[in-house]
Amino acid sequence: MDFSIFISQYALCWLLFINSAMSELEEYQTYIIHLDHSQKPESFITHESWHHSILNSLSPADEAEMLLYSYNHVMHGFSARLTPSHLSELEKSPAHLATYPETFGKLFTTHTPKFLGLQHNSGIWPVASYGEGVIIGILDTGIWPESESFSDSGMPSIPQRWNGKCENGTIFSSSDCNRKLIGAQSFSKGIKAAGLKISKTYDFDSPRDFDGHGTHTSSTAAGNQVLGVSHFGYARGTARGIAPGAHVAMYKVLWARDTDASAASDVLAGMDQAIADGVDIMSLSIGFDQTPYFKDVIAIASLSAIEKGIFVVCAAGNAGARNSIINGAPWITTVGAGTIDRSFTATVTLENDSDFEGISYFPQSIYITNASLYYGKGNISKAVCNHKALDSNEVAGRVVLCDYSGKIDIDKQLREVNRSGAFAGIILSNTSYLFPDDFVIPSVILHTDSGTKVRECATREKRAKIKSMRFLTTKLGTKPAPQVAFFSSRGLNPISPSVLKPDILAPGVDVLAAVTPNVPFMTIGNYDLVSDYELDSGTSMATPHVAGVAALLKAVHWEWSPAAIRSAIMTTAYSIDNTGSILKDETTGLPATPLDFGAGHIDPNKAMDPGLIYDMDFQDYIEFLCGLRYNKNQMKAVIRRHHWNCSKQHTDLNYPSFIATFTNETMKSFSRNVKNVGDPDSVYHANLEFPTGMRITIEPSTLTFTQKYQKQNFILSVEIGIKAPRVIYGFLKWIDQHNHTVSSPIVAIKT
Ligand SMILES: *[C@@H]1O[C@H](CO)[C@@H](O)[C@H](O)[C@H]1NC(C)=O
Ligand SMILES: *[C@@H]1O[C@H](CO)[C@@H](O)[C@H](O)[C@H]1NC(C)=O
Ligand SMILES: *[C@@H]1O[C@H](CO)[C@@H](O)[C@H](O)[C@H]1NC(C)=O
Ligand SMILES: *[C@@H]1O[C@H](CO)[C@@H](O)[C@H](O)[C@H]1NC(C)=O
Ligand SMILES: *[C@@H]1O[C@H](CO)[C@@H](O)[C@H](O)[C@H]1NC(C)=O
Ligand SMILES: *[C@@H]1O[C@H](CO)[C@@H](O)[C@H](O)[C@H]1NC(C)=O
Ligand SMILES: *[C@@H]1O[C@H](CO)[C@@H](O)[C@H](O)[C@H]1NC(C)=O
Ligand SMILES: *[C@@H]1O[C@H](CO)[C@@H](O)[C@H](O)[C@H]1NC(C)=O
Ligand SMILES: *[C@@H]1O[C@H](CO)[C@@H](O)[C@H](O)[C@H]1NC(C)=O
Repeated sequence: MDFSIFISQYALCWLLFINSAMSELEEYQTYIIHLDHSQKPESFITHESWHHSILNSLSPADEAEMLLYSYNHVMHGFSARLTPSHLSELEKSPAHLATYPETFGKLFTTHTPKFLGLQHNSGIWPVASYGEGVIIGILDTGIWPESESFSDSGMPSIPQRWNGKCENGTIFSSSDCNRKLIGAQSFSKGIKAAGLKISKTYDFDSPRDFDGHGTHTSSTAAGNQVLGVSHFGYARGTARGIAPGAHVAMYKVLWARDTDASAASDVLAGMDQAIADGVDIMSLSIGFDQTPYFKDVIAIASLSAIEKGIFVVCAAGNAGARNSIINGAPWITTVGAGTIDRSFTATVTLENDSDFEGISYFPQSIYITNASLYYGKGNISKAVCNHKALDSNEVAGRVVLCDYSGKIDIDKQLREVNRSGAFAGIILSNTSYLFPDDFVIPSVILHTDSGTKVRECATREKRAKIKSMRFLTTKLGTKPAPQVAFFSSRGLNPISPSVLKPDILAPGVDVLAAVTPNVPFMTIGNYDLVSDYELDSGTSMATPHVAGVAALLKAVHWEWSPAAIRSAIMTTAYSIDNTGSILKDETTGLPATPLDFGAGHIDPNKAMDPGLIYDMDFQDYIEFLCGLRYNKNQMKAVIRRHHWNCSKQHTDLNYPSFIATFTNETMKSFSRNVKNVGDPDSVYHANLEFPTGMRITIEPSTLTFTQKYQKQNFILSVEIGIKAPRVIYGFLKWIDQHNHTVSSPIVAIKT
């Protein structure tokens, strides 16, 4: 489902590109203008009045028509509709820092709390009181407030410090908020200014969710407990968010399914408001194209949030390819998607009673018996169910077997089986990269190993039959799990390759969470299938899991900085799956690397007590940006201030992971500082794991702490051999006598 959003959005970007290239020179366009607020004349009491006056001074101008948003927290500045001559006038002003032309972004869903090891009687849930008192701000497609996941039963009162509000708009009023959903606002001036109307058929001009994406992410992060939910019978169980005690605030910045538009100016306005309102965590399952940080509005706004102590977590993207990481700024926590140990199956039984189990999400509990089996043997086109190959006269009312096809995708085979008027389908394939809504007809994907036997039966017997096909089985304990989901974007992060990204993997495949009941999930025959809870997949779904864990950690350790929270999450992550092997890549079935899974898969209970923390503050990020050799204006644009000190500069932050890119040299050193947040008397020994072709050394190799919050430094050096493969990696594990293991991946890459 999510994947298709991604693709249609791609088409939109092209459309916008062509339109603007053809437009007249003096046409109005939206620009985000970043200003130097120290230049604001004293006579203006507020920034907003200054912004109005700047726009009024442009000729000819109708200021009322131009200003979209005034920004005060993410940056100082505004967004407005301007002509190129307005823009050049503005850019001459000494207060002007940077211009960002409007850009458009893209979107990237019972069992997951259990898979994460969250329990009622021990671990982080009871210690964190389920995230009580923490406020999670979600920037997404809006929210369906009537969903039981947002009931406020058992919720404490709204924190005093909360400044947010609940907007009144189309089918949404301030009474839709409660002690769970404490804020809901929408931001659409940007897309409206771009001429993209909010479709009355496909969206609501208010914080109300139409698409379901925002309802899904919000309920994943902090949904209240709801009993007995399922995706049309699959995955039945109790649905609850990762931090069911936390409050939710929705900032709707993504609009309408037919346009899938999210304008940078709207996203900035949502983030600006979230900072002003007082959220503790910000979760964004949105992305814009890769650009340097001084042009990346999410990066700029996030740094501003981080400076105020807000933890910002973003999706790594669904591109699945190498070097496709988005939202990879080192102050953002960047999340990749993993599979979980649950699968949905159907069983085919032949006349001789042999059973064959395969993958199916067909959303109805049906039972097919005594059906004739069809296989287009002797004609490759028919055998693999190519488009329009099947003859309805031959297949009507029968179960069609489609052979493995290297060329056409399984979803196309399923559509052909449906088109032909067949009764059901059996597809042979070793992979099942499918989303639940691909199952337009009762069907099952059999692995080619077992499928071959069913095909033999169909080939051998003239009147081959299926004794039965049973749907709707949910299986737990699937192995191997977790794996890196095929669509999850992979490192490097081309914008700053010296920081390993993604940071962490979290559940992002077949996540069950609340959705909007207004749109049918799919239509089968004459039936619209509608549900309050659905399965969804994407790094969009992984992100709110990390937002929820961050809320739990915040509830336990209010004093921790965003970098400390991330450090705890990363150094306690695991990289071994439930078969005892290193996490695998779902695409190839081969072992994955930290370029795919970062520090590994999130483990919330361990993250509560990490032992040591790799901390960072705003000055560290300034020094990092100095190291990127940004010029003065570029620096000002990212850090939003005039004075900074680049006497220290480096591209090696005090990060809880290590990545060395080698060109000519063969050795690289990293300097790190760790803070003891465990027992006062702790002695840590370095445990280094590395393969042949790589050598890692550390100095000192023992860290002795006598007090809590004490800090110690160490230097880690990485060497690679001439014959080392292009990507090679190992781990540093600091282990103390109290059983803390502080683990960091160390990657070396030859360029
Ligand atoms: C809320 O919005 C509705 C319709 O958009 C309107 O009829 C109503 O008067 C508004 N209420 C307030 C308090 O603004
Ligand atoms: C199966 O269907 C055939 C007709 O296609 C029928 O003759 C036969 O009796 C059926 N068998 C059972 C067990 O229902
Ligand atoms: C195979 O089936 C296709 C589609 O029905 C048909 O066009 C084609 O002629 C068939 N080929 C042979 C060799 O029978
Ligand atoms: C399935 O086939 C029916 C009948 O041909 C058609 O109306 C329907 O649109 C098809 N569904 C999909 C998703 O293609
Ligand atoms: C499917 O996997 C099996 C082994 O599990 C292998 O023997 C077979 O060649 C694979 N088939 C295809 C078409 O990739
Ligand atoms: C049943 O039939 C299938 C397909 O012909 C065959 O592979 C399998 O061994 C048979 N099972 C038994 C128990 O005879
Ligand atoms: C810049 O920082 C260095 C140490 O990091 C310090 O020695 C120097 O005085 C600072 N310069 C200014 C102008 O603050
Ligand atoms: C690497 O070595 C080549 C040839 O010796 C040299 O031209 C190049 O400048 C070196 N690159 C770096 C980054 O040192
Ligand atoms: C130490 O940690 C390991 C794994 O993290 C765990 O299996 C073991 O029970 C722990 N031992 C103690 C004494 O807590």
